This record gives sequence, C-alpha cells and structure tokens, in this order.
Amino acid sequence: MSPAPGAAREPDHPGTDREVPDLDHPGTDPFTVAEVAAAQIRALSCVDRHEVAIVLGSGWSAAADLLGETVAEFAAGDVVGFCAPALAGHVGSIRSVLLPTGAHALVIGARTHLYEGKGVRRVVHGIRTAAAAGAGIVVLTNGAGGIEESWAPGTPVLISDHINLTATSPLEGATFVDLTDLYSSRLRGLAREIDATLEEGVYVQFRGPHYETPAEVQMARRIGGHLVGMSTALEAIAARQAGLEVLGMSLVTNLAAGISPTPLSHAEVIETGAAAAGRVGHLLARIVRAL
Ligand code: HPA
Repeated sequence: MSPAPGAAREPDHPGTDREVPDLDHPGTDPFTVAEVAAAQIRALSCVDRHEVAIVLGSGWSAAADLLGETVAEFAAGDVVGFCAPALAGHVGSIRSVLLPTGAHALVIGARTHLYEGKGVRRVVHGIRTAAAAGAGIVVLTNGAGGIEESWAPGTPVLISDHINLTATSPLEGATFVDLTDLYSSRLRGLAREIDATLEEGVYVQFRGPHYETPAEVQMARRIGGHLVGMSTALEAIAARQAGLEVLGMSLVTNLAAGISPTPLSHAEVIETGAAAAGRVGHLLARIVRAL
C-alpha cells in the first residue's frame, strides 16, 4: 500500500509493515502511533506484554544491565515515533528485559526532551507506547539540580509531586485529568522498604535547555520545589492519562544554580551521574523487583 498523496507518514520501520501516520500531524491520533510502536516492539522482542516500563534519565543508565536479562534491544530511531537521542550521556536504546520476578520490563533509554523542539507528542510517546505494550507501572528517572543544600550530588531522591513550569501539557482538548497522588504513595512506600533513607522532594520541570538562573531556583524553592530539571512532569501527566501508576526518582547531579558555589556544566552532570551509576543502578534494580 502506498501512502495517500501528500499524507505525511512516519518512516518505514523493521517489524511493522503498517503505514503509520506522522505523529506530528495535528490530525493524527498519537495513541494510534503508540499502538503501532507497541505492536512493533511485541513482534521484534517476541514478548507479548511488558508489565512495567522504566525511563532512564541522566545517571541511571547503568540500571539497564542490572535489572535482569536483556531479551531484545532496539535503537530508538528504529521504533515507530521514537527519536534518536540528541545528547551525549543519554543511552538512545529501548530494551525488553526479563526481570528475575518473571515480569518483563520495557526499558526506555531514549527520552525526547521538550527543549529539543520536537513537540510534546514526541516527549510522551514512550509513555503511551509503554501503556500500549501492557505496562501498568512506569518508573521515571532523571538527573536533577538539588535545591536542598543537604542533598549532596549523587543523592537519589523520590519524587513526591511536581510543579510543571513548561507552560504546556501532553493532553489535548478538554481532557481534565486528576493529578492527585500522581507520584504513587504506594510505590514510594515500596521504594522506602528497599531503602528507608530515601528522601522525597517536589520536582520542578523547566523547559530548558539553559539551566535556571539563581533567581529562578529561588522562585522554585519558594513555590515548594526541592529539585529542578527538564523532564519527567509531562511524562508523568501522560502516564496518568494512560492509567499508569508512576514512581519518580531523581538523582541529584549538582546543586542547583546559585545554591552551588560554582557555575553549572553538563560535564559535571554527566560525571556525577557516572560516579553514582553503579549505586543508583543497583538501587533501581532492587526497587523494580519489588514493584
Ligand atoms: N537544572 C535543570 N536540569 C538539570 C540540572 C539543573 O540544575 N541538573 C541536571 N539536570
């Protein structure tokens, strides 16, 4: 079948012979594209259902090897609707992992950030694909700037809630979704059974890609934030819309601007992530097994 003249399509992908409408086209239903991506993942991995999804942010990628047995791995650009990563330090692949519990996890190391300018649909496509692949739980991880002085770089923190300062939403139209207990208190409780020392904080998502000014960090503190970053909140909203239970975790990769005595750099974020990788990877693997 050839595309209708003038109709925008996603490029052809291995494992699917379906024609897929362009995710960015306003007339396309983003959930249809997510269903095709999930069917493609099912066909390529031979795994019928992925019960849990894990999105790996800066500093968390070592977890991919520690979670269980990798059954299949795809480059993000090979899965319908996903984009190749824009950035060094980000993994760029999607794995199907068999957990020791017998459940299957979809491990998404290919996050699209709002600051890439590709639109909110691309940002949350992984979440919608995970839901279409059968997930009931999603674990969202990120690297973040810490506003709490006592949280040294390298500290993992449970996200208790978020403040979305991106001025956008993944929801389109009159879709009034309740966000109470968005970051599941049940799942946070399970995580604390694994590590009782885990702190909790409110994550403030900025658009980026610039880091915040010290004044913006002070604003984030005054409105109730403990962590600043450029991901997660929009994905969590999409997850709630799709009926997923959300566990969110930040790795403090640096003290936020103005809290830190030194200027921020992406290299510092990557270095801290690398230094903490083994520790937080093991922690995440233990938590995922308990979900
Ligand atoms: N600000 C925003 N995003 C970040 C930071 C930060 O300080 N650190 C890691 N990601």
